[in-house]
Amino acid sequence: MLKVLDHPLIKHKLTHMRDKNTSTKDFREQLDEIAELMAYEVCRDLPLEKVSVETPIAKTEGEKIAKEVVIVPILRAGIGLLDGIRRLVPTAKVGFIGLYRDEETLQPVEYFAKFPSGLEDAIVMVIDPMLATGGSAIDAIRNVKKRGAKNVRLVCLVGAPEGVKAMQEAHPDVDIYLAALDEKLNENGYIVPGLGDAGDRIFGTK
Ligand code: PRP
Ligand code: URA
Repeated sequence: MLKVLDHPLIKHKLTHMRDKNTSTKDFREQLDEIAELMAYEVCRDLPLEKVSVETPIAKTEGEKIAKEVVIVPILRAGIGLLDGIRRLVPTAKVGFIGLYRDEETLQPVEYFAKFPSGLEDAIVMVIDPMLATGGSAIDAIRNVKKRGAKNVRLVCLVGAPEGVKAMQEAHPDVDIYLAALDEKLNENGYIVPGLGDAGDRIFGTK
């Protein structure tokens, strides 16, 4: 399943992020706000279980999230989505996977991985602003599945059709959430029109 979360607020903020003149500070803040808005939709189908609760007036039945949520940002740029999602799911655990894209081959190179226990029973959200060739997200998801994850969703800001197709072929069971599906990749593997290098714009490098 591919879901493009094209809410007017998300579109408005994303346009600001795309602007090459937007500062690092504004870029980061808009990304953080979009992450929170996206989390609301991404969590729409979280399973619930009944619990009893005693209000000041009476005993009643309520509901709580029945499964643990584990958020896995792909370093570096995935960090930019983390706080916004955690504000809505503050009990979520966080795992990290460090990948960079080799500039020549465009293949992901892994340099770090650290996960909480219990991935088998958790809802795992792999997060990264950019889904370009799909190589990084495919690799990250292969990694969490190898560690037992069975229920995985991918949350990205901007995707290219090439990356979506590659992801759907590699992991057909993984739901993909995007804020925008862009036109294509350029010859350097950058998303067009995209927003440039997300990691550099978040962290002010380059
Ligand atoms: C970017 C981005 C994704 C990846 C997407 O990371 O954040 O992880 O590229 O490209 P792909 O779909 O073709 O794999 P990058 O490798 O630039 O590392 P960074 O986050 O450290 O900047
Ligand atoms: N990584 C980015 O940060 N931006 C792109 O457009 C493609 C990969």
